[in-house]
Amino acid sequence: MVELVEKKQSILIKEHVFQLQTAHTSYVFHVLPTGHLEHLHYGEKVEFQDNYEAVFPKYEFVEGNLNTYNQENLNLGLENRCLEISTRGKGDIREPFVDITYPDGSNTCDFLYESYQIVKKQELEGLPSSYDENEEVETLIIILKDKNHPVELQLSYTSFYDTDVITRSSKLVNLGEESIQLERLLSAQLDLDEYGYTFTTFQGAWVREMERLDTVCKGGIVVNDSKTGGSSNRHNPFVMLSAEGTTEEAGDSYGCNLIYSGNHYEAVEVNGYETTHFLAGINPFGFSYNIGAGESFSSPEAVLTYSNQGFSGISRQMHQFVREHVVRGTWKKKERPILLNSWEAFYFDFNESKLLKLARAGKKVGIELFVLDDGWFGERNDDTSSLGDWYVNKKKLPNGLNGLSKKINALGMDFGIWVEPEMVNRKSMCYEEHPEYAIEIPGQDQSLGRNQLILDLTKVEVQDYIIEQMIAVFGSANISYVKWDMNRIVSDAFSTGLDNRSQGEFYHRYILGLYRVLDVLTKQFPEILFESCASGGNRFDLGMISYMPQVWASDNTDAICRAKIQTGYSYGYPMSTIGAHVSSCPNHQTLRTTLLETRFSVACFGLLGYECNLADLGNKELEAIKEQIAWYKQYRKTLQYGDYYRMKNGENRCYQWMVVDRDTSKAVGVYLQKDVKANYVTGKFKTKGLAEDKKYHFTNRLQVFDVREFGDLINMISPIHIKQDGVLHQIAAQFVKMNSEVEDYEIMGNVLNHIGVRLRQGFGGTGYNDNTRFFQDYTSRIYIMEEIN
Ligand code: DGJ
Repeated sequence: MVELVEKKQSILIKEHVFQLQTAHTSYVFHVLPTGHLEHLHYGEKVEFQDNYEAVFPKYEFVEGNLNTYNQENLNLGLENRCLEISTRGKGDIREPFVDITYPDGSNTCDFLYESYQIVKKQELEGLPSSYDENEEVETLIIILKDKNHPVELQLSYTSFYDTDVITRSSKLVNLGEESIQLERLLSAQLDLDEYGYTFTTFQGAWVREMERLDTVCKGGIVVNDSKTGGSSNRHNPFVMLSAEGTTEEAGDSYGCNLIYSGNHYEAVEVNGYETTHFLAGINPFGFSYNIGAGESFSSPEAVLTYSNQGFSGISRQMHQFVREHVVRGTWKKKERPILLNSWEAFYFDFNESKLLKLARAGKKVGIELFVLDDGWFGERNDDTSSLGDWYVNKKKLPNGLNGLSKKINALGMDFGIWVEPEMVNRKSMCYEEHPEYAIEIPGQDQSLGRNQLILDLTKVEVQDYIIEQMIAVFGSANISYVKWDMNRIVSDAFSTGLDNRSQGEFYHRYILGLYRVLDVLTKQFPEILFESCASGGNRFDLGMISYMPQVWASDNTDAICRAKIQTGYSYGYPMSTIGAHVSSCPNHQTLRTTLLETRFSVACFGLLGYECNLADLGNKELEAIKEQIAWYKQYRKTLQYGDYYRMKNGENRCYQWMVVDRDTSKAVGVYLQKDVKANYVTGKFKTKGLAEDKKYHFTNRLQVFDVREFGDLINMISPIHIKQDGVLHQIAAQFVKMNSEVEDYEIMGNVLNHIGVRLRQGFGGTGYNDNTRFFQDYTSRIYIMEEIN
């Protein structure tokens, strides 16, 4: 083997030891004398050593009844080594990283080290991947060859120094003359010589996305995956692995996400030797790829990060990485507009004059972007028809999209629309003309989702059709924003464009087709702000975020549910990717009623929008919304791009989060109470992330309460008796203002961070005055901290 000596800032190499460095972490592996890659360390930053002998695992005799690798290496059993990749057939019986069926039907792979290269970070063919604006980032490529077959495996490692992220991807090249069948090729493997890690995953369903689940892994295999065809709301691809006792603030933890939107797979396997084997990549379920002579296959990129600062460390590193190295284009760092979406206001039942009435109401309160959701095309009056027919419904919009957009623009707002280009209804001209465009197994009864079929994006002609249709739509009016929806999961997976041996390529080819469509359209319309959506968060992943900087996070706009959902997303995704709207009450998904201010408090921690019929609201509510929007504009940069901290995650009936401007000059926090505990009147807001040595002005956003919320308690202050809900009660509600308490302090960051503000006494049933904090069920307060110069 060649002796390697090379030194670079983030890639250090010497005598078969490879070390990737980031600002605070190191990733180290080496080549065993046999050529296998043994993992040595991923975690806290360590200095590069001239001699690593001390940390090499020591093996004199093979353990127990492990298979020995070969005659020359009787002490080497692969089953219990921490490796960079696991394969089938040579004694490693853990879940493999790569699995191939060779022409003779065998599955044994033995990939051994050949050489390495250092190259400028490259794009992955057909797949979105991370990037560096300054093009300063380099990739280490380790080239392995199968000892027994003409097949090469390239493992790529890129260190994103400042964000403490290491990305991994792999590429398999068939150098032989016969086709091979690739049964799996994953993106990342991380073997740790400890066990008992907690595997944190985020599972859910429609309107219940991102529920955190912690599973302690002490044996067997725990899998987090999607088989829906998309990344799914069932199990998001972002996961964490943390040492026992890890908290929000402290503990060794790893975060992993995939830049991929299709079926994914993350597994943690713990063997009898108490080691942990973690894998991430495309789900091997339903996957089998034919790799012809000279052809290759690239896996998507996995994003890995380590922090000794617990979950908050992982989140901040992931947020920064996603903002800097995944989101791209015009909107990457731009403040996102406050939008008004027509969906929950009208569903399918609208016409131009209704829309304009809504838009005018929006303009009055400060809305910047008016979004026309589903129902504007074909004969789309409900969800049974017209997907695929992307021409304007002239009954609803006699002046077309162009006419409407001009009127919206004339009001002083931008105009955006909804599309669902990947879908078709049987009741559509598109399906009548091109039934072969839909995913259907000929002669079989297909399962439907929301009455629709999926277009077969594995076919180039279907991709071209969608591109052509969307170019026509996006170019037909002054469209500044597009919500790209996708409302069903895959069933009857099959393409008439693939032969019977290639159906195992269907799922991945669909995603490649989608990426081609998105690539062409986002390049053709670089100024449009795209928002990805899949019945809310059914495809919230870094693949989609590579094309569309923001995602409609959930169809659930109930503030209390949303607090949980947004907390879930916050572990792996920055606020600048999370669409969040204020809607009407009772809420359309839960029938729960919450205060308008509570809905705002939650939505303003994402990308704020409104989704209700503003034209039907009374002056009082409209005034409140106007004030909310004006306030949000003032703090928008901090809220969308600041560093995000979780203080309370739903425990003790409350959520507390805050965002701190990157220069620590400003911060905004929220305290949301789910339900009241009687005779519990104390409250504290202890900050995180403020500069210790700066002085801040701490205040709260003032609220005005409706006197009716106090029911017949009004009689405690009223000189005359007022019947609850009676006429006098209504009149009092118009004239009596119940202002919230005032918090107003000038205090050092270190006091706020380590003691916190002891808030005004909460209402406890024994009396109240101007200083009382009315904090009933589903109430919130927003706190503002501004540096005093
Ligand atoms: C599902 C989305 O999540 C909703 O916001 C809305 O756009 C509907 N589709 C429209 O059909």
